[in-house]
Parts: sequence; C-alpha cells; structure tokens
Amino acid sequence: MNARKIIIDTDPGQDDAVAILLALASPQELELLGITCVAGNVPLPLTTRNARIICELAGKPETRIFAGCDAPLERKLVTAEHVHGKTGLDGPVLPEPTMPLQAQHGVEFIIETLRAEPSGTVTLCPLGPLTNIASALQKAPDIAPRIAEIVLMGGAYFEVGNITPAAEFNIYVDPQAADIVFKSGAPLTVMPLDVTHKALVTQERNDAFRALGTPVGVAVAEMTEFFERYDREKYGSPGAPLHDPCVTAYLLQPDLFTGRHINVAVETHSELTLGMTVADWWRVTDRAPNATFMGDINAEGFFALLTERLARL
Ligand code: BDR
Ligand code: CA
Repeated sequence: MNARKIIIDTDPGQDDAVAILLALASPQELELLGITCVAGNVPLPLTTRNARIICELAGKPETRIFAGCDAPLERKLVTAEHVHGKTGLDGPVLPEPTMPLQAQHGVEFIIETLRAEPSGTVTLCPLGPLTNIASALQKAPDIAPRIAEIVLMGGAYFEVGNITPAAEFNIYVDPQAADIVFKSGAPLTVMPLDVTHKALVTQERNDAFRALGTPVGVAVAEMTEFFERYDREKYGSPGAPLHDPCVTAYLLQPDLFTGRHINVAVETHSELTLGMTVADWWRVTDRAPNATFMGDINAEGFFALLTERLARL
C-alpha cells in the first residue's frame, strides 16, 4: 500500500508535537510532504521554532517546515500561553533547533503541492487555527476539489467551549477561516473536544511514555505532565487531553473513532458565541451534511497505538 500523502498544518503546542511525532513514526502509512506553521497557541516565530525542535527530537531534520500566516484573517491573534506555557512547548528541556525553515510561504506550499500532486491524493491535517488553509482556498479556489480530505482538530458540540463558554480554541482564534474551510466542499473529518476530552493522559499512560526510556518517550511524558496541570485544575480530569494526536491516529486507524456525517456551521458574528461550531448532531435542520463530526474514541486503542509508534522513534 502506498503511504498517504499529508501536510500537517500546526501551532505547536505540546499536543501538536505529539501529533507530529506520531506521523513521523509512521512513514509506512503516512508520507509527510511538509509541515506548515500558523500562529495560534503561541505567535508564529515560536510555532516554527517548536515544529523544528520536534522534528530534530524525532531524528528527522530533513522534514520540510514552512512558516505560514502570523495572524488570523480578520481578527487579532489570541494565544494560549496559559495552557502551553511561554514557549508553547514548556515541560522538557530541548535544544534550540538548527534545521532550516523553508524559504517558501506555507500558504504557497499548500497551493503548489495540491496543484502538483494528482488530484485527490493529498490530505490536509490542520491542528491549529485554520488561517493557512483558508488563505490557500481564498487565493487558489481551484485547489478545493483536489483535496483528498481535511482531517482537523477543532470545534465542539456536547463539550461546548474551552476558550469561551461557546467556542473551542482553534475555531475561536480564526472563525472566518474556519467558516471558509467548512464551506469549501472538501471532504471534512472533525475531531472536536467531544472526542479529545476522552483521550486523557492518565498517570498510567504517562508512565508508559516515560518507560519507553527514549528521548522521545521522556519528552512526551514531560510535555503532557506540563500541560495537564491546566486541565486538572479546570475540569478536575485525571490528565491532559491529547487533542491533536487524534487527527494522526485517525489517519492510521480510523476505526478508533465514531461519529456522524452532519452539517456543521461556524458562528462568525455573535460576540457571545463567536467561533461556536453549530453541529446538527440530531439532524433537526435540512442543511446539507458537510463534515464527519466525531463523537467517540476507543481511548485504550488510541494510547496503545500511540505508545507503540512512539517507541519506533
Ligand atoms: C486545541 O487548541 C490548542 O490549545 C491545542 O493545541 C489544540 O489544537 C484544543 O482546543
Ligand atoms: Ca494545536
């Protein structure tokens, strides 16, 4: 079987880092064409730094990493240092990266790649605000029908919001961009908080990462230890939700997830509910389905896959 061609679009972030590591650990199934960075959890200079740190940690300095947009389409950037720490990757002490950033802009890379590769063969994997993806779609509408699938982490329905009472962080930071992506017509698979809040790094799961005894295993244990303090305090949960790795895990083992093909619309106007993903889970409207919105995860299977793969790095 040919490896599936993917572009990871990301704002690392400890959970983004784990998602990238899972992809880098799985070259038989996933051909990572490049990583495009976006401003989100922390500003762009830090997300590009962090992506390079992670690729070097994985022993993959040949990975192509591109800087994308440094601010949302229309709004001012909102960041999440309160969750991820000052650098976005607080927790482990890792060396400053030496691998280069590519000269090309991330948005140009996305457009060029989708035009160059056979139609329907490239999957986009956004793990942060959707600014880069929406900018590419705005600049080059011809790429939309060429996208194999967009598998993204963002939104929430039953869990509602984590950055406001109504909105999940990635969608809230750039709701205009999310609106463009959800209306793009590209096949869309969404990992909302409804799923990711069930992918918790309990003490036992964290111990399993550390027990790998490798630099990657120890760093992942330290990263999740750092950012779980926030969710423990906020939700009283037994560990940090590994949001973004759900995207990579889905590409490797889709049967870990279940959801519904439904209509999902993004609130772009209301001050109160800006960035809310209005998911027609109960199919009470006649709005056409535009996304497979996941609702559940086999968490044991997810952590077994993740630990087994991280051991390969
Ligand atoms: C999302 O926001 C970020 O803080 C995480 O990296 C994840 O992508 C969760 O709401
Ligand atoms: Ca992220």
